[in-house]
Amino acid sequence: MPGATNDFLVKIEQINLVAQNTFRISLKQSGISRYVHAGQFVNIKIPSNEILWRRPFSVHKINSVQNTFDILFNAIGRGTAALSKMEVGQQLRVLGPLGKAFVYPENTEEIIIVAGGLGIAPFLLLLQDMADMDIPKHLFYGVKTGSLACCVEEIHQLGAHLHLVTEDGSEGQKGLVTEFFEKYLLSLPVRDKRMVYACGPHPMLVKAQELVKRFGLKGQVSVENMMACGFGACVGCPVKMARPTESKFYYLACTDGPVFDLDEVILDD
Ligand SMILES: Cc1cc2nc3c(=O)[nH]c(=O)nc-3n(C[C@H](O)[C@H](O)[C@H](O)COP(=O)(O)OP(=O)(O)OC[C@H]3O[C@@H](n4cnc5c(N)ncnc54)[C@H](O)[C@@H]3O)c2cc1C
Ligand code: FES
Repeated sequence: MPGATNDFLVKIEQINLVAQNTFRISLKQSGISRYVHAGQFVNIKIPSNEILWRRPFSVHKINSVQNTFDILFNAIGRGTAALSKMEVGQQLRVLGPLGKAFVYPENTEEIIIVAGGLGIAPFLLLLQDMADMDIPKHLFYGVKTGSLACCVEEIHQLGAHLHLVTEDGSEGQKGLVTEFFEKYLLSLPVRDKRMVYACGPHPMLVKAQELVKRFGLKGQVSVENMMACGFGACVGCPVKMARPTESKFYYLACTDGPVFDLDEVILDD
């Protein structure tokens, strides 16, 4: 069925080191590349008998001519280390596309993306999704040090105005990405009809949520909770609801998210 979530066996077309300890794998599968939208993720079976649970990764970008989609990751643990050692031509079992995507309200006049570290992953696809929307696109991208920044050329090519921020000042502006996001918001004479999208480390998301609320903006966040089953069965990925109902206090990141409106979740708990 077109557009349905499926468990695909997909071939690795490319694997590249794109920044310090940061890998990008291109996978060929039109069943995902044709239907996925920014914010959705895939669940990948790590080819090791010792790793039971699949690992979730945001779809990073697509190539609609070659029918490929990419994931971007840091080798931080057993699963991602194993993935980083895969080779072109090998196959992976990939379930997707999964989860809710970012939405783009029709009357939006500017978008502002706030990405921290690997939180950049879903935003190349977001810029691809929005390629036909002729509105300013600002991307505030924070990393610890310049060697961790990836995709800078592609971000420019996709028409975004990049504000690169490094904690050590080795590239771009020195400081925390949310400081520059806040300065930008303060510099705007009018702030309505702007949409904010955020993904990154938890403290960055908490600050972004606070700023969006303080400045009366609308925004969405992609949370990267730890996950196990990835399809709503284990209740292992709770996100606290800002407006709980009588019977429900938590969303599940894997099925209700991973994208949420910033005002519908409690992040600073
Ligand atoms: C919806 C979603 C999208 C994601 N997209 C990406 C992506 O695009 N790129 C990417 O690199 N990662 C992404 N992640 C996180 C990714 O799934 C983890 O990095 C991965 O599962 C780690 O597997 P591992 O076996 O290498 O690490 P493990 O051996 O399982 O753990 C190694 C270390 O990483 C920590 N860790 C594991 N998972 C997470 C997590 N979700 N958040 C924070 N710390 C974690 C563990 O606590 C441990 O300290 C995403 C997670 C979710 C839920
Ligand atoms: S990961 Fe199992 S319910 Fe979300």
